[in-house]
Amino acid sequence: MAIRVAVPKETHSGERRVALVPSVVKQLDKLGVEILMESGAGKDSGFDDAAYEGVTVVEAADKLYKDADVVLRVQPPTVEEAGKLAAGSVVLGFMAPHEGDTRIKTFTKNKVTSFAMELVPRITRAQSIDALSSQASISGYKAALLAANLSPRLFPMLTTAAGTIRPSTVLVIGAGVAGLQAIATAKRLGAVVEAYDVRSATKEQVESLGGKFVKTGVSAEGEGGYARELTDEEKQQQAEVLADHVAKADAVITTAAIPGKPAPKLIDTATVERMKRGAVVIDLAAETGGNCELTKAGKEVDHNGVTVYGPKNVASALCQHASEMYARNLYNFLALLVKDGELRLDWDDQVLADSCLTHDGEIRHAPTRERLEGGKKS
Ligand code: NAI
Repeated sequence: MAIRVAVPKETHSGERRVALVPSVVKQLDKLGVEILMESGAGKDSGFDDAAYEGVTVVEAADKLYKDADVVLRVQPPTVEEAGKLAAGSVVLGFMAPHEGDTRIKTFTKNKVTSFAMELVPRITRAQSIDALSSQASISGYKAALLAANLSPRLFPMLTTAAGTIRPSTVLVIGAGVAGLQAIATAKRLGAVVEAYDVRSATKEQVESLGGKFVKTGVSAEGEGGYARELTDEEKQQQAEVLADHVAKADAVITTAAIPGKPAPKLIDTATVERMKRGAVVIDLAAETGGNCELTKAGKEVDHNGVTVYGPKNVASALCQHASEMYARNLYNFLALLVKDGELRLDWDDQVLADSCLTHDGEIRHAPTRERLEGGKKS
């Protein structure tokens, strides 16, 4: 019997994306799998049930979970949903491995194999699977639009009969995938763009997009291309230089993150108080605590005329394209799991081994195992 791949409707509040889009159905067909989808799963992203040709549409989510060999998701399942996954089945999606301990214990108890898109290694071969990147590009783009929308000033220079308007200055802090896209978008909107990252390798990338790199003298490349946490002296040095640039900017977009850790605090209240009235801070790190001291996730905060906005789940706002890109990431991952129409988990494959959260009753991701079991080898 063919492997059954199931796509439930996302239940996480505010989530509009879906793990499968009609254009990916044909690719999945070539893998020789049978596809089940909960009715209405693609509706919020603009894909009606009828657009999913060849897919079996199921009304009840319970049946979908019960019958599935592989479940594709955007958000991690709730504990209740995790409890519905059949023993021995595979679930693939964002799994928030740094939280949700009860969910993870439910996976191990029920012998569910879970793969976390957050844990896919940042290696060349896995680029087509890298959902953190696909979704971060979208968030970075949207962050620049949000900044332009909330700003009472124009981004581009305008020379008109009513005088010349000077372009806005946009400062982007954190020049990873989201930050680079924010830089490119703010540039396209005509702003003068400055950017900063602790990884000195980003200087060239910022400059290639037409941004000016802010030098703080602090460099902190960590493992796997990520940034490491700064020492207290480094934080102080960085803060002093950055504060002057933040104070002068019309809009600041922050994207700084350290995997598995709360977002570094880079803009304190005193610095916001030095900003001009009408200036805007868009904090993309809001969901992991925020890069700005005043950020409240999901809220627009007005502090002395400066707007600090920490949007949540930004990629979901562009759900149609975000779902398309994400569904392709999932398909490329699934193609590694399915061979000749059968589920074959090749643990010698680094992509599978690194991104596996749980398998056969064990927690496979070492930091999660450490957190839940105190480092006990399972
Ligand atoms: P991220 O979302 O973990 O962090 C965003 C940015 O914040 C990073 O550039 C980081 O250096 C920066 N940051 C952290 N602490 C900071 C601080 N205190 N001050 C200023 N900036 C700070 O990063 P993302 O976007 O996920 O990228 C991480 C790395 O992975 C990058 O080196 C990127 O080029 C690399 N990458 C590699 C890929 C591949 O080879 N397949 C694919 C995608 C990304």
